[in-house]
Amino acid sequence: MLDLTPSSRIVVDVRNVQKGFGEGANRVAVLKNVSIEARTGEIMMLVGPSGCGKTTLLSAIAGTLQIESGTINVFGNELEKMSGSALTRFRAANIGFIFQQFNLIPTLTLAENVGVPLLIQGISSSKALKRSREMLDKVGLGERWSERPNKLSGGQQQRVAIARALVHEPPLVICDEPTAALDAQNGEIVLDLFRQVARSPERAVIIVTHDSRIFSYADRIARMDDGEIVDVKEQTSQQPQFVHEHAH
Ligand SMILES: Nc1ncnc2c1ncn2[C@@H]1O[C@H](COP(=O)(O)OP(=O)(O)OP(=O)(O)O)[C@@H](O)[C@H]1O
Ligand SMILES: [Mg+2]
Repeated sequence: MLDLTPSSRIVVDVRNVQKGFGEGANRVAVLKNVSIEARTGEIMMLVGPSGCGKTTLLSAIAGTLQIESGTINVFGNELEKMSGSALTRFRAANIGFIFQQFNLIPTLTLAENVGVPLLIQGISSSKALKRSREMLDKVGLGERWSERPNKLSGGQQQRVAIARALVHEPPLVICDEPTAALDAQNGEIVLDLFRQVARSPERAVIIVTHDSRIFSYADRIARMDDGEIVDVKEQTSQQPQFVHEHAH
């Protein structure tokens, strides 16, 4: 693994990744030859038009989608060389994933939803419930812990999904449009949570977003277009600031 500075190292290394869907004449190449990395201590944002392959790339990094060629190394592990069960365990311990569609479990309460990653790791249900409620507090939903997701607005569901991705303090947090349904106040709260994760010298955050309100939180912005990374820009250390829609 390449050392950049003592406090920042590459922990996600995607090299020459290709992935397509369909067979023969119906085949669509979605990731054409993607190379990108994420480093500890940083928020890396991935932007690009709808359909360019962002969610596909995140799923490959999270190990939920098999690639056709290339390599994906996450914290020193080549994902494509790991067996299914090892990969599942690795993912549960190391990756918090916020899905574009939230993927909450409708039959569970909010606290139970948030506690799933803890239970998977063998933490007792009483401890898991306590930590889930604390995490729900941080996203402003502590008092609603015993409700079911279908009673919530889209933005509230999104915050539950964010709480679930952060509750077990995974070293890598991967977010697919984490602020699409959030107003400015809640958007700022969750970006501050991501910022806290990325301030840790051992953790990294990758965010796919269309949301220009949050661009200033990025340490690097990668642009994707039609299955390729077309540009990567470092952002100098400006003060991150959530841009309110009607601010002038
Ligand atoms: N399971 C699948 N089977 C077939 N095609 C797929 C599948 N998943 C994604 N695709 C195709 O791959 C392309 C990229 O999809 P992807 O979801 O990665 O885009 P995206 O950049 O995340 O878009 P958006 O910003 O709208 O979320 C699209 O053309 C989509 O139709
Ligand atoms: Mg997507």
